[in-house]
Order: sequence, then structure tokens, then C-alpha cells
Amino acid sequence: MGNIDFHSFVNSLSRVIEYKDLYTHGHSDRVADLSALIALEMGLSEDLVDEIHIAAHLHDIGKTGIPDGILMKSGKLNHKEYSIMQDHSLIGYDILKEVKGLKAISLMVKYHHEKFDGTGYPDRLKKDEIPLGARIITLADSFDAMTTPRPYQKARSIEEAVIEISKSKKKHFDPDITDYFLKVIEAQKDYILSIIVKTEGEKSWIP
Ligand SMILES: [Fe+2]
Ligand SMILES: [Fe+2]
Repeated sequence: MGNIDFHSFVNSLSRVIEYKDLYTHGHSDRVADLSALIALEMGLSEDLVDEIHIAAHLHDIGKTGIPDGILMKSGKLNHKEYSIMQDHSLIGYDILKEVKGLKAISLMVKYHHEKFDGTGYPDRLKKDEIPLGARIITLADSFDAMTTPRPYQKARSIEEAVIEISKSKKKHFDPDITDYFLKVIEAQKDYILSIIVKTEGEKSWIP
């Protein structure tokens, strides 16, 4: 057992959701890479960067518990369906919470849809009540959602996504982390361009 690489094992677990929901193909990997780049830019410790990377790989694992009719609906979700979809962060937490040593990671997963101003879910946490890793992952997650084409909405360009995220600084996103995020996007533009989804065929749906 000693020679199992934990990080790559977790990475493969995140593929479970991608096989179930083709709309999220590649989403977990892109969110993981971008979250790790932001964490590195912030100068966080190697261990914390690693934890955030793993949590980002697993952030939507709870979508495996969402009924297929809702998960794979190609149109916009109605109010009731959207509220069921929101359960994915709690389901993700439930899946991971018993794993020894994964407590911090399970909380990042639980809170990846909280917003800085307290308007997110599931617990409407505010500011630094939200785990640092979750505040990073939510930025990468939102950026990937914006730059990925959806059945009813075309993908935004990197520039458009940057403007939109900058507008939500302080409201939805931690302003300090947003500044690090903007630095990463600027410095890594070619890499980001190479990983974002270009065609509808690779589309993804992210609530
Ligand atoms: Fe999510
Ligand atoms: Fe996501």
C-alpha cells in the first residue's frame, strides 16, 4: 500500500463525476491547476498548496449524488432543481468527511460555493469564516464556468471573465485573493488559453 500515490489516486476519483456528467469534462482538472497556481502566487506552504489542489480536484464530487435528470439537463434549471443541485457541496463533504486526514479538504469542498459577502451556500459564511482554500477554489471555479460554453450561453473570453470577476471583488470574492488571481491570469495567459474549453463539444455545466 505504501507505494500508492495519494494525489494521483484522488485525481482519478475526480474522474468519477466526469464520466457521469460529460458536461463537466476537464472542469475539475482546470479548477485544480488554476487553484494551485493562485495558492503558489500567494506564497502558501507546499502542504497547503497540495491540500488546495486535492480539494479542487474533488470540489464537485458530490454531483455524483444529484439525480441525472437535473445534473444533465441541457436547459436552465428551475428554482427547485437549482436548490437540489446546490446539495452537491454538502454531498461532497459527506463523501469525504470520514476519511482520516481529509478534514480540511472536506471543508474546502463543503464551502466552495460560499461567497465573501455571505450570500453563498450552504451556510452563508462570510469573509474569513470561509476556509482559505474554498475562497481560492471558488475563484478558479467561477473563472472556468465563465470561460466554458454552455448549452444556453456562449463562453466568455478571458478578458470578459476578468472584468466580471473584478466587478464581484468584495461581493463574491475575497479582494486580496482576487488580486493574486488577476496576477496569475496575466502571467499565465498562454497556459490558461491552452487549457480553457474552446468548443461546444467539450462543454461543461457548472452551478
Ligand atoms: Fe460546485
Ligand atoms: Fe465546479
